[in-house]
Amino acid sequence: MKKNIAVILGDGIGPEVTQQSIKVLDAIAQQYKHEFTYTYALMGADAIDKTGSPLPDETLSTCLASDAILFGAIGHPKYDNDPAAKVRPEQGLLKLRKSLQLFANIRPITTYPALQHLSPLKAKNLEGVDFVIYRELTSGIYFGKKNLSDDKTTASDDCVYTASEIERIAHLAFKHAQKRRKKLTLVDKANVLETSRLWRKVVQEIAPQYSDVTVDYMFVDNASMQIIINPKQFDVILTENMFGDIISDEASVLSGSLGLAPSASVGSGVALFEPIHGSYPQAAGKDIANPIGSILSAAMMLDHFGLNEEARLVTDAVQWMLQHGFVTKDIDPINSYATTAIGDLVKDFIENKLPTEAY
Ligand code: IPM
Ligand code: MN
Repeated sequence: MKKNIAVILGDGIGPEVTQQSIKVLDAIAQQYKHEFTYTYALMGADAIDKTGSPLPDETLSTCLASDAILFGAIGHPKYDNDPAAKVRPEQGLLKLRKSLQLFANIRPITTYPALQHLSPLKAKNLEGVDFVIYRELTSGIYFGKKNLSDDKTTASDDCVYTASEIERIAHLAFKHAQKRRKKLTLVDKANVLETSRLWRKVVQEIAPQYSDVTVDYMFVDNASMQIIINPKQFDVILTENMFGDIISDEASVLSGSLGLAPSASVGSGVALFEPIHGSYPQAAGKDIANPIGSILSAAMMLDHFGLNEEARLVTDAVQWMLQHGFVTKDIDPINSYATTAIGDLVKDFIENKLPTEAY
Protein backbone atom coordinates (compact mmCIF):
# COMPACT_ATOMS: atom_id res chain seq x y z
CA MET A 1 0.00 0.00 0.00
CA LYS A 2 1.26 3.50 -0.87
CA LYS A 3 0.43 6.37 1.45
CA ASN A 4 1.50 9.97 1.48
CA ILE A 5 1.56 11.29 5.04
CA ALA A 6 1.72 14.98 5.90
CA VAL A 7 3.90 15.40 8.97
CA ILE A 8 3.59 18.44 11.20
CA LEU A 9 6.24 18.24 13.88
CA GLY A 10 4.98 21.37 15.64
CA ASP A 11 6.29 22.82 18.89
CA GLY A 12 8.08 21.75 22.08
CA ILE A 13 8.36 17.96 22.28
CA GLY A 14 6.31 17.56 19.07
CA PRO A 15 9.33 16.93 16.80
CA GLU A 16 11.05 14.37 19.02
CA VAL A 17 7.95 12.26 19.72
CA THR A 18 6.80 12.38 16.09
CA GLN A 19 10.23 11.24 14.89
CA GLN A 20 9.75 8.04 16.92
CA SER A 21 6.44 7.43 15.14
CA ILE A 22 8.15 7.84 11.79
CA LYS A 23 10.72 5.24 12.87
CA VAL A 24 7.85 2.91 13.74
CA LEU A 25 5.95 3.59 10.51
CA ASP A 26 9.12 2.97 8.50
CA ALA A 27 9.63 -0.36 10.27
CA ILE A 28 6.02 -1.33 9.49
CA ALA A 29 6.44 -0.26 5.85
CA GLN A 30 9.51 -2.43 5.54
CA GLN A 31 8.00 -5.49 7.19
CA TYR A 32 4.78 -5.37 5.20
CA LYS A 33 6.14 -3.92 1.96
CA HIS A 34 4.20 -0.69 2.11
CA GLU A 35 5.45 2.62 0.86
CA PHE A 36 4.95 5.55 3.22
CA THR A 37 6.24 8.91 2.06
CA TYR A 38 6.30 11.99 4.26
CA THR A 39 5.76 15.61 3.37
CA TYR A 40 6.76 17.97 6.16
CA ALA A 41 4.74 21.09 6.91
CA LEU A 42 4.82 23.90 9.47
CA MET A 43 2.23 24.83 12.08
CA GLY A 44 2.09 26.57 15.46
CA ALA A 45 4.81 28.67 17.12
CA ASP A 46 7.36 27.11 14.79
CA ALA A 47 5.36 28.36 11.79
CA ILE A 48 4.88 31.83 13.32
CA ASP A 49 8.64 32.12 13.83
CA LYS A 50 9.41 31.05 10.27
CA THR A 51 6.52 32.56 8.28
CA GLY A 52 4.52 34.90 10.54
CA SER A 53 1.45 32.66 10.29
CA PRO A 54 0.41 29.78 12.60
CA LEU A 55 -1.01 27.90 9.59
CA PRO A 56 0.72 28.84 6.32
CA ASP A 57 -1.34 28.21 3.13
CA GLU A 58 1.26 25.72 2.03
CA THR A 59 0.60 23.59 5.12
CA LEU A 60 -3.10 23.48 4.35
CA SER A 61 -2.48 22.45 0.75
CA THR A 62 0.06 19.80 1.81
CA CYS A 63 -2.51 18.38 4.25
CA LEU A 64 -5.30 18.42 1.66
CA ALA A 65 -3.09 16.55 -0.80
CA SER A 66 -2.16 13.85 1.75
CA ASP A 67 -3.75 10.55 2.78
CA ALA A 68 -3.43 11.40 6.47
CA ILE A 69 -1.74 13.85 8.80
CA LEU A 70 0.58 13.00 11.65
CA PHE A 71 0.88 15.87 14.07
CA GLY A 72 3.13 16.40 17.13
CA ALA A 73 2.13 19.17 19.54
CA ILE A 74 1.39 22.87 19.61
CA GLY A 75 2.05 25.81 21.94
CA HIS A 76 4.82 27.97 23.33
CA PRO A 77 4.92 29.64 26.77
CA LYS A 78 5.80 33.04 25.30
CA TYR A 79 2.21 33.32 24.02
CA ASP A 80 0.45 31.89 27.08
CA ASN A 81 0.96 34.87 29.35
CA ASP A 82 0.44 37.52 26.74
CA PRO A 83 -3.31 38.18 26.57
CA ALA A 84 -2.76 40.83 23.88
CA ALA A 85 -0.91 38.53 21.45
CA LYS A 86 -2.44 38.91 17.98
CA VAL A 87 -1.32 35.57 16.62
CA ARG A 88 -1.22 32.39 18.68
CA PRO A 89 0.15 28.95 17.83
CA GLU A 90 -3.14 27.25 18.75
CA GLN A 91 -4.96 29.24 16.04
CA GLY A 92 -3.08 27.10 13.54
CA LEU A 93 -4.47 23.83 14.86
CA LEU A 94 -7.99 25.22 15.25
CA LYS A 95 -7.96 26.55 11.70
CA LEU A 96 -6.64 23.25 10.35
CA ARG A 97 -9.38 21.30 12.19
CA LYS A 98 -12.03 23.67 10.85
CA SER A 99 -10.68 23.80 7.29
CA LEU A 100 -10.52 20.01 7.04
CA GLN A 101 -13.85 19.61 8.85
CA LEU A 102 -12.32 17.25 11.39
CA PHE A 103 -15.49 17.24 13.42
CA ALA A 104 -14.91 14.12 15.53
CA ASN A 105 -11.97 13.74 17.86
CA ILE A 106 -11.67 10.15 19.07
CA ARG A 107 -9.74 9.62 22.29
CA PRO A 108 -9.47 6.05 23.57
CA ILE A 109 -8.83 5.61 27.30
CA THR A 110 -7.06 2.37 28.16
CA THR A 111 -5.44 1.18 31.35
CA TYR A 112 -2.40 -1.09 31.47
CA PRO A 113 -2.06 -3.68 34.26
CA ALA A 114 1.69 -3.01 34.53
CA LEU A 115 1.12 0.67 35.21
CA GLN A 116 -1.82 0.48 37.58
CA HIS A 117 0.33 1.34 40.58
CA LEU A 118 1.20 4.66 38.91
CA SER A 119 -2.36 5.77 38.48
CA PRO A 120 -3.76 8.17 41.06
CA LEU A 121 -6.63 5.67 41.38
CA LYS A 122 -6.75 2.43 43.33
CA ALA A 123 -5.95 -0.63 41.18
CA LYS A 124 -9.33 -2.20 41.94
CA ASN A 125 -11.06 0.76 40.30
CA LEU A 126 -8.96 0.47 37.15
CA GLU A 127 -9.41 -3.14 36.12
CA GLY A 128 -11.35 -3.40 32.90
CA VAL A 129 -11.38 0.35 32.25
CA ASP A 130 -11.65 0.79 28.51
CA PHE A 131 -13.66 3.60 27.03
CA VAL A 132 -13.50 6.05 24.19
CA ILE A 133 -14.37 9.73 24.12
CA TYR A 134 -15.99 11.25 21.03
CA ARG A 135 -15.31 14.94 21.34
CA GLU A 136 -16.94 17.35 18.86
CA LEU A 137 -14.05 19.33 17.40
CA THR A 138 -15.12 22.03 14.97
CA SER A 139 -17.85 23.96 16.72
CA GLY A 140 -19.15 25.10 20.12
CA ILE A 141 -17.50 27.70 22.29
CA TYR A 142 -14.13 27.24 20.56
CA PHE A 143 -15.50 28.60 17.30
CA GLY A 144 -18.31 30.96 18.38
CA LYS A 145 -18.11 34.73 18.11
CA LYS A 146 -15.55 36.25 20.45
CA ASN A 147 -15.75 39.74 21.79
CA LEU A 148 -13.79 42.10 23.96
CA SER A 149 -15.42 45.45 24.71
CA ASP A 150 -13.64 48.64 23.68
CA ASP A 151 -12.82 49.44 27.29
CA LYS A 152 -11.51 45.87 27.65
CA THR A 153 -13.57 45.10 30.74
CA THR A 154 -16.10 42.69 29.24
CA ALA A 155 -15.40 39.59 27.19
CA SER A 156 -17.57 36.90 25.67
CA ASP A 157 -17.28 33.64 23.74
CA ASP A 158 -20.47 32.38 22.15
CA CYS A 159 -21.26 28.67 22.28
CA VAL A 160 -23.28 27.71 19.20
CA TYR A 161 -24.31 24.26 17.92
CA THR A 162 -26.56 23.26 15.06
CA ALA A 163 -28.53 20.02 15.01
CA SER A 164 -26.60 18.77 11.99
CA GLU A 165 -23.24 19.33 13.72
CA ILE A 166 -24.48 17.20 16.59
CA GLU A 167 -26.03 14.53 14.37
CA ARG A 168 -22.93 13.78 12.32
CA ILE A 169 -20.71 13.05 15.33
CA ALA A 170 -23.53 11.28 17.19
CA HIS A 171 -23.88 8.80 14.31
CA LEU A 172 -20.16 8.01 14.46
CA ALA A 173 -20.28 7.54 18.23
CA PHE A 174 -23.36 5.27 18.05
CA LYS A 175 -21.74 3.18 15.31
CA HIS A 176 -18.61 2.77 17.41
CA ALA A 177 -20.70 1.82 20.45
CA GLN A 178 -22.35 -0.92 18.38
CA LYS A 179 -18.92 -2.47 17.85
CA ARG A 180 -18.04 -2.23 21.54
CA ARG A 181 -20.07 -2.80 24.72
CA LYS A 182 -23.09 -1.01 23.24
CA LYS A 183 -23.36 1.82 25.70
CA LEU A 184 -23.27 5.52 24.93
CA THR A 185 -23.12 8.28 27.53
CA LEU A 186 -23.89 11.82 26.44
CA VAL A 187 -22.02 14.25 28.69
CA ASP A 188 -23.57 17.71 28.80
CA LYS A 189 -24.89 20.44 31.07
CA ALA A 190 -28.52 20.25 30.00
CA ASN A 191 -29.74 21.55 33.36
CA VAL A 192 -28.22 24.94 32.47
CA LEU A 193 -27.22 25.27 28.82
CA GLU A 194 -29.49 25.58 25.79
CA THR A 195 -26.85 24.01 23.54
CA SER A 196 -26.76 20.97 25.85
CA ARG A 197 -30.53 20.63 25.63
CA LEU A 198 -30.19 20.57 21.83
CA TRP A 199 -27.53 17.83 22.15
CA ARG A 200 -29.96 15.75 24.25
CA LYS A 201 -32.84 16.26 21.84
CA VAL A 202 -30.77 15.27 18.82
CA VAL A 203 -29.28 12.23 20.56
CA GLN A 204 -32.73 11.13 21.75
CA GLU A 205 -34.05 11.42 18.19
CA ILE A 206 -31.21 9.37 16.73
CA ALA A 207 -31.12 6.70 19.45
CA PRO A 208 -33.98 4.54 18.03
CA GLN A 209 -31.84 3.92 14.91
CA TYR A 210 -29.36 2.18 17.22
CA SER A 211 -31.77 0.22 19.37
CA ASP A 212 -29.03 -2.19 20.50
CA VAL A 213 -27.17 0.70 22.17
CA THR A 214 -28.12 1.79 25.69
CA VAL A 215 -27.97 5.56 26.06
CA ASP A 216 -27.52 7.46 29.25
CA TYR A 217 -27.12 11.13 29.98
CA MET A 218 -24.78 12.67 32.50
CA PHE A 219 -24.06 16.22 33.53
CA VAL A 220 -20.44 17.14 32.99
CA ASP A 221 -19.73 17.95 36.63
CA ASN A 222 -21.00 14.53 37.69
CA ALA A 223 -19.17 12.88 34.77
CA SER A 224 -15.88 14.40 35.97
CA MET A 225 -16.45 12.74 39.30
CA GLN A 226 -17.65 9.42 37.84
CA ILE A 227 -14.49 9.18 35.67
CA ILE A 228 -12.53 9.09 38.92
CA ILE A 229 -14.78 7.02 41.20
CA ASN A 230 -16.21 4.51 38.72
CA PRO A 231 -14.54 4.73 35.29
CA LYS A 232 -15.53 1.15 34.39
CA GLN A 233 -19.11 2.24 33.74
CA PHE A 234 -18.16 4.06 30.53
CA ASP A 235 -18.01 2.61 27.03
CA VAL A 236 -18.46 5.47 24.54
CA ILE A 237 -18.69 9.03 25.84
CA LEU A 238 -20.10 11.60 23.44
CA THR A 239 -19.64 15.25 24.26
CA GLU A 240 -19.20 18.77 22.93
CA ASN A 241 -15.90 20.47 22.20
CA MET A 242 -14.82 22.07 25.46
CA PHE A 243 -16.23 19.43 27.83
CA GLY A 244 -14.40 16.86 25.72
CA ASP A 245 -11.15 18.78 25.94
CA ILE A 246 -11.35 18.87 29.72
CA ILE A 247 -12.58 15.36 30.52
CA SER A 248 -10.17 13.71 28.11
CA ASP A 249 -7.13 15.15 29.90
CA GLU A 250 -8.71 14.04 33.16
CA ALA A 251 -9.43 10.54 31.85
CA SER A 252 -5.98 10.11 30.33
CA VAL A 253 -4.31 10.01 33.74
CA LEU A 254 -6.22 6.80 34.56
CA SER A 255 -3.67 4.99 32.37
CA GLY A 256 -0.75 6.33 34.42
CA SER A 257 0.36 9.21 32.21
CA LEU A 258 -1.07 11.78 29.83
CA GLY A 259 1.93 10.94 27.63
CA LEU A 260 0.40 7.59 26.65
CA ALA A 261 -2.86 8.84 25.17
CA PRO A 262 -3.40 8.96 21.40
CA SER A 263 -6.16 10.53 19.32
CA ALA A 264 -7.63 10.59 15.86
CA SER A 265 -9.55 13.50 14.37
CA VAL A 266 -11.82 12.51 11.53
CA GLY A 267 -14.29 14.21 9.26
CA SER A 268 -15.38 13.81 5.70
CA GLY A 269 -11.89 13.92 4.16
CA VAL A 270 -8.31 13.49 5.28
CA ALA A 271 -7.87 12.53 8.96
CA LEU A 272 -5.35 13.79 11.52
CA PHE A 273 -3.57 11.79 14.22
CA GLU A 274 -1.99 13.36 17.27
CA PRO A 275 -1.16 12.54 20.89
CA ILE A 276 -3.49 14.33 23.27
CA HIS A 277 -0.66 15.89 25.28
CA GLY A 278 0.60 19.41 24.70
CA SER A 279 4.02 20.74 23.71
CA TYR A 280 5.56 20.28 27.21
CA PRO A 281 8.21 22.98 26.55
CA GLN A 282 10.19 22.19 29.73
CA ALA A 283 11.11 18.79 28.27
CA ALA A 284 11.76 19.90 24.69
CA GLY A 285 15.06 18.74 23.23
CA LYS A 286 15.97 16.67 26.32
CA ASP A 287 15.11 13.25 24.90
CA ILE A 288 12.88 12.50 27.90
CA ALA A 289 9.37 12.98 26.50
CA ASN A 290 7.05 9.99 26.22
CA PRO A 291 6.61 9.07 22.54
CA ILE A 292 3.94 6.41 23.18
CA GLY A 293 1.00 8.83 22.73
CA SER A 294 2.36 9.65 19.28
CA ILE A 295 3.23 6.04 18.42
CA LEU A 296 -0.28 4.91 19.37
CA SER A 297 -1.68 7.74 17.24
CA ALA A 298 0.35 6.32 14.34
CA ALA A 299 -1.26 2.94 15.12
CA MET A 300 -4.69 4.60 14.88
CA MET A 301 -3.58 5.93 11.49
CA LEU A 302 -2.69 2.41 10.35
CA ASP A 303 -6.14 1.20 11.46
CA HIS A 304 -7.67 4.10 9.55
CA PHE A 305 -5.82 2.91 6.41
CA GLY A 306 -7.37 -0.53 7.01
CA LEU A 307 -3.97 -1.94 8.04
CA ASN A 308 -5.34 -3.64 11.13
CA GLU A 309 -2.66 -6.31 11.49
CA GLU A 310 0.04 -3.66 11.27
CA ALA A 311 -1.72 -1.49 13.85
CA ARG A 312 -2.03 -4.52 16.12
CA LEU A 313 1.70 -5.16 15.92
CA VAL A 314 2.39 -1.60 17.06
CA THR A 315 -0.04 -1.83 19.98
CA ASP A 316 1.39 -5.23 20.95
CA ALA A 317 4.86 -3.69 20.94
CA VAL A 318 3.66 -0.92 23.24
CA GLN A 319 2.00 -3.41 25.61
CA TRP A 320 5.21 -5.43 25.72
CA MET A 321 7.32 -2.36 26.47
CA LEU A 322 5.08 -1.19 29.28
CA GLN A 323 4.95 -4.66 30.80
CA HIS A 324 8.73 -4.96 30.74
CA GLY A 325 9.44 -1.55 32.26
CA PHE A 326 10.66 0.16 29.09
CA VAL A 327 9.15 3.51 29.94
CA THR A 328 10.04 7.19 29.97
CA LYS A 329 10.57 9.41 32.99
CA ASP A 330 6.96 10.53 33.32
CA ILE A 331 6.11 6.91 34.15
CA ASP A 332 9.15 5.83 36.12
CA PRO A 333 11.44 8.67 37.27
CA ILE A 334 14.13 6.25 38.47
CA ASN A 335 14.46 3.55 35.81
CA SER A 336 13.65 5.47 32.70
CA TYR A 337 14.50 5.22 29.02
CA ALA A 338 15.06 8.05 26.57
CA THR A 339 12.48 9.06 23.96
CA THR A 340 14.73 7.79 21.17
CA ALA A 341 15.42 4.50 23.00
CA ILE A 342 11.69 3.82 23.28
CA GLY A 343 11.30 4.48 19.54
CA ASP A 344 14.21 2.11 18.80
CA LEU A 345 12.70 -0.62 20.99
CA VAL A 346 9.31 -0.44 19.32
CA LYS A 347 11.08 -0.59 15.95
CA ASP A 348 13.07 -3.62 17.13
CA PHE A 349 9.91 -5.34 18.31
CA ILE A 350 8.34 -4.80 14.90
CA GLU A 351 11.39 -6.06 13.04
CA ASN A 352 12.00 -9.10 15.23
CA LYS A 353 8.62 -9.45 16.88
CA LEU A 354 10.64 -9.00 20.08
CA PRO A 355 13.38 -6.50 20.97
CA THR A 356 16.97 -7.66 20.64
CA GLU A 357 19.30 -8.12 23.61
CA ALA A 358 20.79 -4.64 23.17
CA TYR A 359 18.80 -3.25 26.05
C1 IPM B 1 -6.19 19.51 22.50
C2 IPM B 1 -5.53 20.81 22.85
C3 IPM B 1 -6.09 21.90 21.96
C4 IPM B 1 -7.57 22.01 22.26
C5 IPM B 1 -5.41 23.26 22.06
C6 IPM B 1 -3.92 23.16 21.84
C7 IPM B 1 -6.03 24.27 21.14
O1 IPM B 1 -5.67 21.10 24.19
O2 IPM B 1 -6.05 19.06 21.37
O3 IPM B 1 -6.85 18.93 23.37
O4 IPM B 1 -7.97 22.66 23.24
O5 IPM B 1 -8.35 21.44 21.51
MN1 MN C 1 -6.65 19.56 25.35
